[in-house]
Amino acid sequence: MANADFVKGLEGVIAAESSICFIDGHAGRLTYRGIDIQDLAEHSTFEETCYFLLFGNLPKQAELDAFKAELAAGSVVPDEVMALVRSLPKETTPMDALRTAVSALGSYDPDALDNSDAANVRKAVRLIGQVTTLTTSFDRIRKGLDPIAPRQDYTVAENFLYTLHGEAPHPSSARVFDVCLILHADHELNASTFAGRVIASTFTNESGVSAVHAAATGAIGALAGPLHGGANQRVMEMLLKIGDLDAVDAFIDDLFANKKKVMGFGHRVYRTIDPRATVLRSFAKKLGEDTGNSKWFEMCEKIEKLVSAKTSKPIYPNVDFFSGAVFYSMNVPIDIFTPIFACSRISGWMAHTVEQLRNNRLIRPLADYQGLEKMEYMPMAER
Ligand code: SDX
Repeated sequence: MANADFVKGLEGVIAAESSICFIDGHAGRLTYRGIDIQDLAEHSTFEETCYFLLFGNLPKQAELDAFKAELAAGSVVPDEVMALVRSLPKETTPMDALRTAVSALGSYDPDALDNSDAANVRKAVRLIGQVTTLTTSFDRIRKGLDPIAPRQDYTVAENFLYTLHGEAPHPSSARVFDVCLILHADHELNASTFAGRVIASTFTNESGVSAVHAAATGAIGALAGPLHGGANQRVMEMLLKIGDLDAVDAFIDDLFANKKKVMGFGHRVYRTIDPRATVLRSFAKKLGEDTGNSKWFEMCEKIEKLVSAKTSKPIYPNVDFFSGAVFYSMNVPIDIFTPIFACSRISGWMAHTVEQLRNNRLIRPLADYQGLEKMEYMPMAER
């Protein structure tokens, strides 16, 4: 018998009190601790946004400088963890490699056995830089190249591009990437953040296992799914499969005829366009113009128009739809797109983990039991 309280997928269910992020799905408004995402995208940096998410206030210059130095210093990955990355099969997917390596970092972190609030914050800051280092190092290792150590005078965005491509990034590319990191940093109780909070909720501040690393590991596992963070990679794979503008109509017709989801569209919370998609659309357009190849952007625009015309209940582009064209224009390998999501969202996951542990209660919902009320045990001979 269905339980009236059960909602599949927890749609609309409030599962935590939080001060970190607010989404108005009908208005298409997203704020981090009250500041509109558009204002952060225009005026802030990823480092400042990380500080803001973690500590709840905008830093003064000296605080920001100290945070950037701590973040850069903490972005180094222990040799033993890099050796583990090297030992993985070459065909390992980047998200599997990232999840494995982040879990291993929990064994080498100097604060590993300390789950006090101060230690949690120190570990969180280290992880924010280490996720980027691991992402680009894995890509180089699987190509038979040596990883490149992050530069202490670079931001996370600059270091991502520098340690991925092996050359100093163009300032305009670094700024576009920096804004992409701001846009992906947090999004309330999305699946991966909620997964992290559930894991964090099982911990106390006693020593033993690093709550921060356990939560980050689980969150990466959740982000990898195509319905969540994995969609940006699939959008680019869709565009490459379509090939060019003339083939878009038939491809989208086929998707709808076979009742398949269009990757990069729809959202559990937004009932209008995802405000992050609006910023990313402008980046995809500009990068297309700057690189002299607007093909992918034009295909996205055409898909957006077709989907809008084909769906009775309107569905809109989400954060993953245009980001593929942006990252592809920046020569990022397609299967590194979802790890980029993690390079940014690690900041939000950490803010939520710290918040959960500051006012914790074990997260343990109920199931609406659908099985037999009573069944007698039958000995093997009688089965
Ligand atoms: C992210 O939660 C977050 O905040 C996530 C995120 C974040 O920042 O953390 O915003 C990041 O994960 C963005 C979403 C990336 N995923 C995709 O782009 C995959 C494609 N999208 C869909 O699978 C879907 O829209 C979800 C998973 C995102 C949301 O799914 P819901 O809320 O469970 O909605 P649903 O599948 O029940 O769909 C409702 C209706 C259905 O039609 P009916 O069966 O009711 O007639 O809308 C249709 C769906 O068929 N629909 C789509 C569609 N998404 C929904 N139809 C075609 N293509 C789609 N993409």
